[in-house]
Amino acid sequence: MENFKGYHAEWNLGCPGGWEYQRMAQVRGKLCWDWIKKITGIEIELDFEHPILNPVPLFIDMLLRAHRINFLRQKPFVLLVAEEETLDKVTENISLVDYLNRMEGVKAALTCPQELEEKGDDIIFNGQKVTVIFLDINNDVLLSMAKKHHIGPLLSGIKKGIVINPRGMEPMGAKGVFEVVTGDLSPNLSASTVNYTPWTRLFYPRKTSGPKGESINDLVEWVRGHWEEVILKPVYGYSGKGIFVGPQRDTRDADIRIALEAQTYIVQAFIPKMLWAEEYPWLDQHNKNVALKPWQTDFRCFVNDRGLIGFLARFGGIPTNVGAGGGGQSVAILKTDIPIREAVRRINHTILELGFSTVMEIQQAVDEKGLELKHTYLEGPTPTTLRPRIISLGQLAALQAYSTNLWADLLKLEKWWHEGKLNHVVQMSEGEEEIARMQFWGGSPALIASDGLFSFGADLMDAT
Ligand SMILES: Nc1ncnc2c1ncn2[C@@H]1O[C@H](COP(=O)(O)OP(=O)(O)OP(=O)(O)O)[C@@H](O)[C@H]1O
Ligand SMILES: [Mg+2]
Repeated sequence: MENFKGYHAEWNLGCPGGWEYQRMAQVRGKLCWDWIKKITGIEIELDFEHPILNPVPLFIDMLLRAHRINFLRQKPFVLLVAEEETLDKVTENISLVDYLNRMEGVKAALTCPQELEEKGDDIIFNGQKVTVIFLDINNDVLLSMAKKHHIGPLLSGIKKGIVINPRGMEPMGAKGVFEVVTGDLSPNLSASTVNYTPWTRLFYPRKTSGPKGESINDLVEWVRGHWEEVILKPVYGYSGKGIFVGPQRDTRDADIRIALEAQTYIVQAFIPKMLWAEEYPWLDQHNKNVALKPWQTDFRCFVNDRGLIGFLARFGGIPTNVGAGGGGQSVAILKTDIPIREAVRRINHTILELGFSTVMEIQQAVDEKGLELKHTYLEGPTPTTLRPRIISLGQLAALQAYSTNLWADLLKLEKWWHEGKLNHVVQMSEGEEEIARMQFWGGSPALIASDGLFSFGADLMDAT
């Protein structure tokens, strides 16, 4: 089986997003490629429409499957519950509700927790019985909302088991869990899960073992001495917030102090930058040329109870979030029998050869498509690349096997969490723990994400 290199940076088990943005990125990526292919005749075949490249249908299928488990013969009413201030802003939630409402026999709505009601055993919204809730809110946020609003009916829905993702999943998504994955519990987990997990430790003054198994007397001092090889991340961070990237920071002592004061940080091996970087043709509007630009990549795998259902491919700086100058990109499967590196080299070259004005024309069309699809960030179209992230069918098979193993391993971790074996690495507040204990997961339909800093062969590590 053809493989892929690298590590996952984190698992997201609360309410991973981006599925709808990937659908949009695919449309924009294909538009761009079709244009390039038409005018250059480049003899490389790429597939943008393989079902695995659009996570939305399989995500919807999962929501309806969850409905059938609890309410087989009733009409599905899917409620997407998110924070009030996001309701008119997050296009992916708005679109999901639109898709569902266009399906025969399905009803859906988007609302915030305080709008739910309870009648007898039923959870009600707008006078109708809700059969599935997709909750786009993490447990910590839910807890702080409970202080301001009445969220009793939503909590009842959680206890009834109609909420996706089951609230009991979040503990395994705590970034500290990687400590046991590469440590004590590794013999009980799949080789793929263990091998793709970077060395990680909860960050506080302690004795522990290092990335090479060496013994460390004082982790804080060790981090000070290995600053270029580590990254510090908040255990419950998101959107790249609060991350200190060792090799990019010359404020080491202050960063270490902040992380220690916050108390819930991890230290992780910094994954060599060139391993998950690729060159992309990039339009330089200022100098009116097209040149190759190295970008970092982040390859989120979406997995549910049926296995891998799609990806969210991002590119940018470090951290690789849209806020860090990057955006979203399409993914394509290489159909021509040449190595990925060779395909990328030829495609990059072909695009550069087109010259500034042609590439500019293509870029404008791709950007207009972004506005039309509402694939936007702040005021403009979400940045995207002129060529897709490219993977092979063999790598897709490897990603499927990796995903199946990950799902099975997370179920084991859930069991260990309930047995109290993960308390030292999960560390959540009592209130959050209470919510997590309201709804056991046990492998029921849910969406998990693993964010891969992967190489599919076109990395810049030992590029010649
Ligand atoms: N071990 C690592 N080595 C190198 N870079 C890393 C590492 N972990 C994270 N990063 C960088 O930080 C980014 C965000 O990491 P991570 O997914 O762990 O945090 P997050 O705040 O949960 O982000 P998000 O919610 O956007 O997925 C990655 O895309 C990558 O650019
Ligand atoms: Mg991430």
